[in-house]
Amino acid sequence: MSALLRIEHVTKEFSISRTESFPAVDDVSLTLERGETLSVVGESGCGKSTLGRVIVRGIDATSGAVMYNPEGDGGHSAGSGREIDFLALKGRALRSYRPDIQMIFQDPMSSLDPRMTVFDIIAEPLRATRRPRRQELQRRVREIAEKVGLDPSHLRRYPHSFSGGQRQRIGIARALITGPKVIVADEAVSALDVSIRAQIINLLKDLQDELGLSYLFIAHDLSIVEYLSDRVAVMYLGRIVELAETASLFSRPRHPYTEALLSAVPQPDPDASRERIVPTGEVPSPTDRPEGCLFSSRCHYATELCRITTPPLQEAADGHLSACHYAEELPLRGIAGQPAATSAP
Ligand SMILES: Nc1ncnc2c1ncn2[C@@H]1O[C@H](COP(=O)(O)OP(=O)(O)OP(=O)(O)O)[C@@H](O)[C@H]1O
Ligand SMILES: [Mg+2]
Repeated sequence: MSALLRIEHVTKEFSISRTESFPAVDDVSLTLERGETLSVVGESGCGKSTLGRVIVRGIDATSGAVMYNPEGDGGHSAGSGREIDFLALKGRALRSYRPDIQMIFQDPMSSLDPRMTVFDIIAEPLRATRRPRRQELQRRVREIAEKVGLDPSHLRRYPHSFSGGQRQRIGIARALITGPKVIVADEAVSALDVSIRAQIINLLKDLQDELGLSYLFIAHDLSIVEYLSDRVAVMYLGRIVELAETASLFSRPRHPYTEALLSAVPQPDPDASRERIVPTGEVPSPTDRPEGCLFSSRCHYATELCRITTPPLQEAADGHLSACHYAEELPLRGIAGQPAATSAP
C-alpha cells in the first residue's frame, strides 16, 4: 500500500533582500503512512512551521511536491496509485481536497477570532468548503464538539470565556469538522500546562484511533513527542538530519544534534549520571549557513571532512536515516527506554 503523503524534495525560500533569499525548508523528503504519527522536532527557527504551512497550502512551496493518495491502492507500490500532487492543485480540485489536510496551531487564542462564537469558529471550514444546510451544520458541529470534549451547550459563547485546554479543543474541533485524513499539529500542546497537555495528547490519540487520522506532529521539545510518535524526524536549519522509529531514535541516536537534543530531555531518575551535551556556539543564522555539514559549526565530533563535505541523509542502521559522516561509528548516547507508565506525559 502506498503512503498517504509523500513529501518530495520540498524547498521553501524566503527572500531577505531584492537579490538574496535563504531556504527555510531545504529539500525535505518524508513519507506519512496511514494512521501514523510522524513528529518533526528541532530548535526554534529550523523551519518546522514553514514545512507544515507548505503542506496544508497555507503558503506556496518554492519547489517540490506533496503526493497525496487518499484511497490507498491495495498493494501497489508507491507511486502507482491514484496519487495527486496536493501542492499543484488549483481551483475546484483544491477546494475538494483541501478539507482532507488540516492544521492545528500552538496558540488557539491568536488563531481563533475573538468576535466569533465557538459554533461559528468550528463551523467555518465546513461552510467555506461544502455549504451544508443549517440543520446538517448544527448536527455536525455538536457532534464534533462532543467528540473533543466540549459541552455543546457552550457553543454560543466566545473563545475568551474558555480555558487554554478548552481553547485547544476548539482548535481541534475546527480542524476535524471537514473530516480530514491528515492533521498537521504545529506545537499543538507546547503552550499548555503539563496536566492539560497530557489530556490533549490523550485526546489526540483517541481521535486518531477512532477516526483513522494521520498526524504530522510538530514540536521543539523531544520529551513531548516520545509518547505519541511512531517515527521522529529531526530538523536543523531547514534540513532533515535524522529520521527513525521513535524507540530507535531515543535509545540510540545516530546524529550528534539529536544526541544534544536528547541530553536536554528531563529524566525521571535523579541519579542518572548524564551530563547535558550542549552544542557549542549559537544556532547559525539561517541566512548564513556553514559550509559542509550544517551542524559542523556546533558539533563536538566535527572533523575537517565535516566542514567541507555535506553528508547526505542515508541509512545508518536498519531503517534509521542520518545525515552524519560518522553515523555508524560514533557511540552517541540516547536516553534509556522508559516503561510506558512513566513515559506518558
Ligand atoms: N514569512 C516569512 N518571511 C521571511 N522569513 C520567514 C517567514 N516565516 C518564517 N521565516 C523564517 O524562516 C525560518 C524558519 O521559521 P519557522 O517559523 O518555520 O521555524 P520553526 O521551526 O517553526 O520555529 P519555532 O520553533 O520558533 O516555531 C526562520 O528563520 C524564520 O525567521
Ligand atoms: Mg514554529
